[in-house]
Amino acid sequence: MFQDLPRPFFVLAPMDDVTDTVFRRLIAACAPPDINFSEFVNVDGLMSPGRPHILTKLDRAESEPSLIAHIWGINPNNFRSVADQIASGELAAELGLGSNFAGVDLNMGCPAKDVVKTGACSALINNHELAQDIIQATQAGLAGRLPLSVKTRLGYNVIEPDWFDFLFAQDLAMLSVHLRTKKEMSLVNAHYDELIWIKQKRDMLSPDTLLVANGDIMSYSQGLQLASKYGIDGVMIGRGVFHDPYVFASESPWEKLDYLERTGLFIKHLNLYKQWSPEPDKAAGRLNKYAKIYINGFDGAKALREQIAEAKTIDDMLDRVRDFQARSIINV
Ligand SMILES: Cc1cc2nc3c(=O)[nH]c(=O)nc-3n(C[C@H](O)[C@H](O)[C@H](O)COP(=O)(O)O)c2cc1C
Repeated sequence: MFQDLPRPFFVLAPMDDVTDTVFRRLIAACAPPDINFSEFVNVDGLMSPGRPHILTKLDRAESEPSLIAHIWGINPNNFRSVADQIASGELAAELGLGSNFAGVDLNMGCPAKDVVKTGACSALINNHELAQDIIQATQAGLAGRLPLSVKTRLGYNVIEPDWFDFLFAQDLAMLSVHLRTKKEMSLVNAHYDELIWIKQKRDMLSPDTLLVANGDIMSYSQGLQLASKYGIDGVMIGRGVFHDPYVFASESPWEKLDYLERTGLFIKHLNLYKQWSPEPDKAAGRLNKYAKIYINGFDGAKALREQIAEAKTIDDMLDRVRDFQARSIINV
């Protein structure tokens, strides 16, 4: 699947509690990336009685661009079982989907304290033995039916070339690198020049592994420049979508969109969420986060965001946005 992608290809980064199927559909309607990742989903939770509560994190619309199931956890047996359920199509069928995932990605980069203290995600950078067990268990579960990729960071406390020697010995289809260490969180600029030796290692040790760069990429043209400067295969953008939902367009119209078009996108997001969620009225807090993306860059945006923050239900939010639109049209 990955080999058919354009070069460079563009990826929407996984962002927990943000890149759910509704937000991904909204972004795809603006300008689709070539690949989407799901939010990260815990395999140990999926193999527990709590499964129904987290399964929705893997939901998607059939219309979405290719979706990679992005998973994390600690127990290799659970990675193996979940990988088998994904590759066989069992998990997609459980979600009522007619088509399958495009691949499976292992989170080996999340720096969140509660996650790291379990020994998962970025803690694996310091534990090659468990990382290897997880990779091999997942490969055994996939049994060659879907590609396996990893998303990681440059190192734990410091940049760790050995970590990349290890990763490039794992027969991965793709490696996405957030160009900071775990210790740096997101507090310093991404270290793009580290791509030079990472690519050299990739070319030497595992030439078929696609290399994707991530960190502080804010526009399509910046992604193209990075790809051409460092010879990488793909570009992954996360927070760039908060500044421009059209970030995957070769020429984004975002700066020229007026208040009606921007509020219209928020209304579209709310309506999609209402259609998708079984409990839309519990989601006002979650949806309020997205208001910052669309409700800005026009007169009255801050006041409208404050009104939206007070809404208790989606319908209340919709009323407040429509009321603002009506008042603004009258005042034009
Ligand atoms: C709100 C939020 C949630 C995130 N959740 C995840 C996650 O679940 N898995 C992961 O690998 N990275 C996660 N990340 C990190 C992003 O995927 C990305 O690596 C990081 O934001 C740097 O890229 P950017 O500068 O383009 O945003 C998250 C980032 C943010 C801001």
